[in-house]
Amino acid sequence: MKRIAVMTSGGDAPGMNAAIRAVVRAGIAKDVEVYGIRQAYQGLLAGDMERLTSREVSGILQRGGTILQTARNEEFKTAQGQRKALRRLNEENIEGVVVIGGDGSLRGANVLSQLGIPTIGIPASIDNDIFGTDTSIGVDTALNTILDALDRLRDTATSHNRCFIIEVMGRNCGYLALTGGILGGAEVVITPERPMKMEEVAAELEAAYVKGKAHAIAIIAEGAPYKVTDLSEFLEKQQVGFEIRLTILGHTQRGGSPSAFDRLLATRMGVEAVNRLLSGESGVMVARQGRKQTTVPLEEVTSQMRAISDEYFELASLLQ
Ligand code: ADP
Ligand code: F6P
Repeated sequence: MKRIAVMTSGGDAPGMNAAIRAVVRAGIAKDVEVYGIRQAYQGLLAGDMERLTSREVSGILQRGGTILQTARNEEFKTAQGQRKALRRLNEENIEGVVVIGGDGSLRGANVLSQLGIPTIGIPASIDNDIFGTDTSIGVDTALNTILDALDRLRDTATSHNRCFIIEVMGRNCGYLALTGGILGGAEVVITPERPMKMEEVAAELEAAYVKGKAHAIAIIAEGAPYKVTDLSEFLEKQQVGFEIRLTILGHTQRGGSPSAFDRLLATRMGVEAVNRLLSGESGVMVARQGRKQTTVPLEEVTSQMRAISDEYFELASLLQ
């Protein structure tokens, strides 16, 4: 294999640049040309790719986002789009592809592999919803961003005797809300996996107020069964004691310089992906399991979502 390509796809995640850098430098070290595909499958369909040298990936390790950019693209979900992508790869003599992205992007990687293009996936999504790996690139940085925001909000909440409702990302997964709640000391955690009724949230907050707490924090995943604005209005009407304020962290959780953990995870996964590709593997995702780095078939990865361990839910209820 003398020429491979790398892309970043789906929601961006801090650490993607570290993974790109590792793929490029590991490929060059094995005398392989590495091409960067811009804007994920959209760029692949447009043939928007160019060779990356070591210089192009210097000074990016600490940068959030992705120098290759990313995109969401519907055409690649069609057979016609996939045939077009295959043509583009053959035109450029690309013999293998590394896809860095979330579960949707990894579905696309599986399609490429099934079309006969050796393809390796690298898990990158702040949601930590990717099956088969303990964690994905971007999760640790996003969690630290949430904790920084939560600690700041607690300062002002205490000054004003307020309750802050904080919405965090996690399309259908409550991992960021749950771990943010445990590590940030939230009084209430609302996740899609274990949703609470609004009335239960009100009761918890009223109990905290009666207990004399100077503030309260309720952290809610965006995938919860009701809108955070509806919850906020409901709590205002319920007169739980605290004044209510609402903060939606949104895309601040997707940016920022990757943490040391994410830089190391991304670097190790990038090198591993190249080694696996060059050793003839395809249709698998590089995964972190305990201290081990291994691979999991993309078919398995994309057929289910990573579950949150019960231990975390038990920790949350024990420590609230
Ligand atoms: P993420 O990778 O962050 O989960 P998406 O779910 O939006 O993001 O997927 C990113 C891109 O991956 C999509 O825009 C599409 O181009 C490609 N993709 C997603 N699902 C499939 C699929 N089933 N088949 C082919 N391509 C897919
Ligand atoms: O999948 C990562 C993620 O950040 C989700 O948590 C969030 O719901 C989604 O992407 C937002 O997508 P977009 O950046 O396209 O608005």
